[in-house]
Amino acid sequence: MIDREKLIEAAKEARERAYCPYSQYMVGAAVLGADGKIYTGCNIENASYGMTVCAERTAIFKMVSEGCRTFKALAVYTNGSGEDGGPCLACRQVMTEFCADFDVPVIDASPQAVWEHTMRELCPLPFVVFEKNPDYHD
Ligand code: THU
Repeated sequence: MIDREKLIEAAKEARERAYCPYSQYMVGAAVLGADGKIYTGCNIENASYGMTVCAERTAIFKMVSEGCRTFKALAVYTNGSGEDGGPCLACRQVMTEFCADFDVPVIDASPQAVWEHTMRELCPLPFVVFEKNPDYHD
């Protein structure tokens, strides 16, 4: 059972730690790992703009580096005022690598609204090289 409110709250809290002096656009993310733990992340910008890492990837990389390779849900929190299309394409590719399956919910929350899409909706034609391998995923 996925506690969506808890995941959104974790993403909202992580957003407070965003490092975004260039865009001023604060983003927080939280993933529910297959181990039941929540891993959070924020966007981290750089003077060399291309080195910026989005909140979603920060959260996923933290999960993987802590020993969990699969997530069951992901939430993003921004101050966006309308449905803005969701995670960037680079993040969708990373999400493809580590999502439990393509029914995994991706929640996009802001003070105005909450939307939910499945990974399949966000990535209808994912680039995958290997089938998810139990040696590599939970
Ligand atoms: N950003 C994210 O953290 N996640 C997204 O899905 C899209 C964009 C960040 C990157 C950059 O720091 C700022 O938002 C503006 O693009």
